[in-house]
Amino acid sequence: MVNRITVIGAGNMGGALVKGWMKAGMASELTVTAHTQQTLDRIVEACPGITAMLDNSKAVQDSDVVVLAVKPWLVENIIAEIKPELKDKLLISVAAGVRHERIDVYAMPNIAAEFGESMTFVEESYKAAVAAELFGRVGQCKVVPQRLMDAGMMMAGCGIAYVMRFLRAMMEGGVEMGFYPAEAKEIAMQTMQGAVALLRETGLHPEAAIDKVTTPGGITIKGLNELDHAAFNSAVIRCLKAGLK
Ligand SMILES: NC(=O)c1ccc[n+]([C@@H]2O[C@H](COP(=O)([O-])OP(=O)(O)OC[C@H]3O[C@@H](n4cnc5c(N)ncnc54)[C@H](OP(=O)(O)O)[C@@H]3O)[C@@H](O)[C@H]2O)c1
Repeated sequence: MVNRITVIGAGNMGGALVKGWMKAGMASELTVTAHTQQTLDRIVEACPGITAMLDNSKAVQDSDVVVLAVKPWLVENIIAEIKPELKDKLLISVAAGVRHERIDVYAMPNIAAEFGESMTFVEESYKAAVAAELFGRVGQCKVVPQRLMDAGMMMAGCGIAYVMRFLRAMMEGGVEMGFYPAEAKEIAMQTMQGAVALLRETGLHPEAAIDKVTTPGGITIKGLNELDHAAFNSAVIRCLKAGLK
């Protein structure tokens, strides 16, 4: 059973995990570290009840699980720094593309963890279940073989950025047609939310959902065909594969 979690690195990803776990009622079980006091002050203000400190070794002492959420190039030094206190504690890393013999579980969450909406991938290992349970508290979590971790990162970790680009494109189209940016943003977000709800509720394939809004000879098909002329599908597939080694 997990009693205490230490998150090393309270930046975009570590901070989102801490905020998500806090919202899941785990504040008193969380310790977080950062490089600067300024970052710690920010996270403590956002997450009352958590423990925050600059000393990584001390932060690890009383934990059962340690989550490394620092930039990839810092992982090796930080493991060396906390090693005397690590002992048999579960060490999870969310750092992209870094492998280390001491890391027990590799995980790839995304920053929607802050709102309980992460899509997290945990690499199969004999300790994956504990990590999957923890990440399951801040969204959906899938345990996958190592060969799918990079694909998961591209679709869900980086995917947040790609979805933002699609939303921005919709907004810009909306503004060109006469909406104020704030209105266009709301319209684009609600439309995306509606599309996701439609798929979730009905279980439809996206193309079957498209048939529901596409009248033969109508205006929707004109827009869909423009996307095809601009190689939208191909662009998205190439975008997802661009980061694969
Ligand atoms: N951002 C994402 O969407 C995302 C998604 C999945 C995985 N990841 C992975 O998450 C890791 C962190 O990325 P990020 O975007 O969160 O970076 P970030 O915003 O720069 O956060 C890194 C954090 O590490 C802290 N830090 C630096 N040196 C430290 C030290 N010696 N001891 C303790 N903490 C230290 C920094 O503290 P200060 O703020 O005080 O400098 C900062 O809060 C990366 O390895 C990345 O691959 C990120």
